[in-house]
Amino acid sequence: MNRSSRRRVLAAVFSATAGLTMAAAVITVTHTAQAATTLGASAAEKGRYFGAAVANYKLTDTTYVGILNREFNQVTPENEMKIDATEPQQGVFSYTNADRIVNHARAQGMIVRGHTLAWHSQQPGWMQSMSGTALRSAMLNHVTQVATYYRGKIHSWDVVNEAFADGNGGARRDSNLQRTGNDWIEAAFRAARAADPGAKLCYNDYNTDNWTWDKTQAVYNMVRDFKTRGVPIDCVGLQSHFNSGSPYPSNYRTTLSSFAALGVDVQITELDIEGSGTTQANTYRSVVADCLAVARCTGITVWGIRDTDSWRASGTPLLFDGSGNKKAAYTSTLEALNAGGTTNPTTQPTTPPTTGPTTPPTTQPTTPPTTGPTTPPSGAGCSARVTLNQWGGGFVATVRVTAGSAPLSGWTVGVTLPSGAAVTNSWNTTATGSSGSVSFSNVGYNGSVAAGGATEFGFQGTGVGPSATPTCTAR
Ligand code: G3I
Repeated sequence: MNRSSRRRVLAAVFSATAGLTMAAAVITVTHTAQAATTLGASAAEKGRYFGAAVANYKLTDTTYVGILNREFNQVTPENEMKIDATEPQQGVFSYTNADRIVNHARAQGMIVRGHTLAWHSQQPGWMQSMSGTALRSAMLNHVTQVATYYRGKIHSWDVVNEAFADGNGGARRDSNLQRTGNDWIEAAFRAARAADPGAKLCYNDYNTDNWTWDKTQAVYNMVRDFKTRGVPIDCVGLQSHFNSGSPYPSNYRTTLSSFAALGVDVQITELDIEGSGTTQANTYRSVVADCLAVARCTGITVWGIRDTDSWRASGTPLLFDGSGNKKAAYTSTLEALNAGGTTNPTTQPTTPPTTGPTTPPTTQPTTPPTTGPTTPPSGAGCSARVTLNQWGGGFVATVRVTAGSAPLSGWTVGVTLPSGAAVTNSWNTTATGSSGSVSFSNVGYNGSVAAGGATEFGFQGTGVGPSATPTCTAR
């Protein structure tokens, strides 16, 4: 398949999988007389992508880039979109390295997975030392800012990464984010949906491959709960880092199909398999066959290109050796892609998901609507301004409280919600009421605002967000 036909097929894949309103579309399958000769082309023929994690600093390595451009039709920045990379200082965002990868991928007709918006690890120092409502607010702001910056360019976001603990019990992982409240994951998903309604929103984790493991069941139960309650989630990422301690399980296909049956896509997001020779090749073959057997397993990403690029280089877990030569694992992977069954249209969903947006991202406003004054009140007292991120079924509101000519020792903001709307969650405030007239008062640490100064709180809800100017009462 030449590059232009590869791009046409990939465009069909992307349009069939990226927009939620398109989720019911039957994936176009292009039949060719001869077997495809690259991973990406073969996957595209099955209505899927085959990608790799890419490091920005390797984009000057011609062998690396040559393999990337030839073989893959999807890219995940390995580290460049993580929180420490994109918000190194609070409120100061840095996209240079991630942009290089995104621009390279898009120029090559590849789709991009975003990794990751909220994670206990690789937090910048300022975030590591935060807690409570300040951290919750900072996390949501990070999700909103980064997802908004990349709106329209990301096929799927790992919104939350690795939030469950290993071992028995299926508990959440203890972290500063978890300690902000058990609802931090769904809050992150709602903020991501508001910021980029066209991206698929994934929960991503490792050691969730074996269907019998408690961690797998715990993630499954969370996704089922999210789907039941309308929390916006579109996909589950199985990292699938396989080695002797966490081997490829014989029930892997059951895990993939069980998640898919919840009404989410499944993506194999960080595949690597330690080993060598025929054993390694056969395991890659099995993983690919399992994905192709599940219609909603929509793509596979290997976590690096050459063995020497891997975070586990000594385990030689990838498809190309250190010189860029194809390994036996490459051959078996390509054979499995070429041999796999085509996507079965009858197993695609017949009705669009109800939790997604009803409009494509291009129709979203480029700047969120605001309600309320943009300047401080001329006298004493306070004013409030609401910035709204609205999507089909809900909204996130960020409210800025600004003091007038006198300092505040406390404040209450009154918001009128339209009929049918309800507040489901709030941060940096105490809410009274959840529908109709709702008031939001300061919490302990943000009641004091200097003259002319400002503080922010937020809330999210179902239905249509407020459009009337909020009131602000100083105390
Ligand atoms: O860039 C610096 C370099 O300047 C410095 O000299 C060097 C010294 O240690 O560190 C370099 O940064 C390293 C970075 O990778 C880039 O190579 C970090 O120390 C190192 O911690 C970081 O490791 C990454 C790891 O996530 C961190 O958690 C790996 O590359 C990356 O492959 C790995 O990816 C994770 C996924 O995000 C989530 N799932 C598991 C997966 C594997 O751990």
